[in-house]
Amino acid sequence: MKTLTVPIKEIYDSCDTGPHGDRHDLLGHKFYEWIAAQFAPGIIVEAGTLKGRSARSFSRGAPSSLVISYDIVYRSHLDSTGDPDAHDHILMYDNIITKAPMDINEINPAWFSKVDIIYLDISHNGRDEKVFLERIEPHFKGILIMDDVDDGKQYPGLQNVFQNITREKHLLPKLIAASRGTGVIPYGDWTIKIIAHGE
Ligand SMILES: C[S@@+](CC[C@H](N)C(=O)[O-])C[C@H]1O[C@@H](n2cnc3c(N)ncnc32)[C@H](O)[C@@H]1O
Repeated sequence: MKTLTVPIKEIYDSCDTGPHGDRHDLLGHKFYEWIAAQFAPGIIVEAGTLKGRSARSFSRGAPSSLVISYDIVYRSHLDSTGDPDAHDHILMYDNIITKAPMDINEINPAWFSKVDIIYLDISHNGRDEKVFLERIEPHFKGILIMDDVDDGKQYPGLQNVFQNITREKHLLPKLIAASRGTGVIPYGDWTIKIIAHGE
């Protein structure tokens, strides 16, 4: 087995400091940067893109890796808004390829055997995520990250899908996770050891 050791304090300490000395990372982006670096150079698949915030985190963490980001919707209207989070800003990142419109559940799943990290952040209804998990199961050998898996009020279907995963799975400590929960699931020969804050 190969062990991915996740040092919570080290990742937490890398978060930006707010005006009162507190650390901010409500979207879990420092974790994305950190894990991308562990697999560099590698291939990271993201679904979906939206404004490309998470895609850019993976890109920043691993400039030598390739980030391929899929979205079922092509949003050309984000091009000219001036919003720093606008979708087209990711075009300035040399190592991100965007594919839209493209349904992640229509890609030949054998492709995922080549991928080191998958980040799943799609419809949140639970149905699409369940289909995705079934499709990658025979092929994927890397680390799957699932966004927003621990908010039963907002996303009950998604939480249910995560809770029903029977293989090894981890909910990242809140300190470095997205505020609605970040799930991390090792496939293939991988196992994960989380070093808690203070250990
Ligand atoms: C929560 S947003 C993603 C946020 C993005 N990761 C970010 O950091 O800005 C979800 C996105 O998934 C897309 N989506 C939904 N179902 C999808 C599917 N089956 N395949 C690809 N993208 C999908 C939606 O169009 C939407 O843009």
